[in-house]
Amino acid sequence: KKSELIIDKNFITGQIDRRIYGSFIEHLGRAVYEGIYQPDCPFADEQGLRKDTLALVRELQVPIVRYPGGNFVSGYHWEDGVGPKDQRPAKVDLAWSVIESNQFGLNEFADWAKKANTEVMMAVNLGTRGTDDARNVLEYCNLKGGSYYSDLRRKHGYEEPHNIRLWCLGNEMDGPWQMGHKTAEEYGRAAEEAGRIMRMMDPSIQLVACGSSNLDMPTFASWEATVLDHCYEQVDYLSLHQYYGNAADNTPDFLANSVGMDQFISSVVSICDYVKAKKRGKKQINLSFDEWNVWYHSNEADKKLEKWVQAPHQLEDIYNFEDALLVGSLLITLLRHADRVKVACLAQLVNVIAPIMTSDTGAWRQTIFYPFMHASTLGQGTVLNTLVKSPVYDSGNFGDAPYLDAVLVMDEENEALTVFAVNKDLEEDMEITCDLRQFADYRVTEHLYMTHPDMKAVNTEQNPDEVKPCSGGISKVEGGRLTAVLGKHSWNVLRLE
Ligand code: AHR
Repeated sequence: KKSELIIDKNFITGQIDRRIYGSFIEHLGRAVYEGIYQPDCPFADEQGLRKDTLALVRELQVPIVRYPGGNFVSGYHWEDGVGPKDQRPAKVDLAWSVIESNQFGLNEFADWAKKANTEVMMAVNLGTRGTDDARNVLEYCNLKGGSYYSDLRRKHGYEEPHNIRLWCLGNEMDGPWQMGHKTAEEYGRAAEEAGRIMRMMDPSIQLVACGSSNLDMPTFASWEATVLDHCYEQVDYLSLHQYYGNAADNTPDFLANSVGMDQFISSVVSICDYVKAKKRGKKQINLSFDEWNVWYHSNEADKKLEKWVQAPHQLEDIYNFEDALLVGSLLITLLRHADRVKVACLAQLVNVIAPIMTSDTGAWRQTIFYPFMHASTLGQGTVLNTLVKSPVYDSGNFGDAPYLDAVLVMDEENEALTVFAVNKDLEEDMEITCDLRQFADYRVTEHLYMTHPDMKAVNTEQNPDEVKPCSGGISKVEGGRLTAVLGKHSWNVLRLE
């Protein structure tokens, strides 16, 4: 099959905000305990943080990590996780039916984030708590000193404030599973009030309001409009969450989910702009897609878990090759909306629906690690509005779906172009072309690709390199025209300099 990419260097989608390569650590399963923190393991540093995990997180170049939840945050008392460890209470976590030891809390996470070269995106509890708690935790984190909570932080050994800039006003507050879930009216008011008071404490922070928990929520769209109607003035971003699965074992339909993500983003952009118009507003509300990934492999195992234990093997999806292809396509979709998606978090980062897995004997990269790393390390600069002329196939949920997902990024700083592309065709290679005469002298310096004969192939601790990228794909520029061959079912990164 053949496809064409059409671009013009003056035809720009938007600047990439590096925070779209964010991720997420929740107090859930083995994300914190055994994932990033395990004092009794041979890989732990002097603070009990796992050095092997840190090295892989640094390899991913994740600029921001959301913490501490997720559903967990809606019942969390952050005070339980600060101060002397021998005085911290073990508490019941009703979100995940486990016991939380509180041996790791926000100060340890701030330390971990520094070592991981990342920033913290903090969520406050608007479920079982509210405005007062939100302002207290902000005071603890961001005020220099001279007040009760800022001095408490200093007493706990953190003289300097953590200066956390980005805050989530609760989590999935529309979901009946959420502790303290609310109607759109109730949440809109709660977010407006919490946001207003948090900004009185620290006007420099940015705030994210909860959008719908997923596209299937019956209140989707009216939830977004009502919530923003209340808190438009107080917030900067509206959140989107969506997980994808292949329970029906239909790979073409599964890979078509990038069409679904694209439509979801466009719908939420429209709602934000509708509220702006209604209010004759000046500011633009942008999007924080702060939970996205493939999630379904572990669903059955999770139903059998014993309750009220600490750090069980929960939500431990083992990702296969086709999952990596979809993650690549979803990253392309986020990039194609770089004008409005300013934050996004791959959910999650370690052990729990994650690109990185750990055991007592080491840490390894799941299949989805690679497209994420490529995008995060090479996808910087400006997204060009990339017209993709591709043949389509009939997908169950979304009608016509293109065989090719692609986007072209112009990196002015390094004078480079990067093409990210997924060929979803399971039978045939795809030849792509692109007129690049505006970029005279650019040559292909690298063509990375990832493919595997078995769509269900996985990486394990024993066999960690079963699915991994190769270099040396077929591509060239001749007479100002790029041509490349994208193997059947493959993820591709073309670098031109
Ligand atoms: O990421 C796992 C869970 O998915 C989060 O806790 C919740 O916000 C979402 O439903």
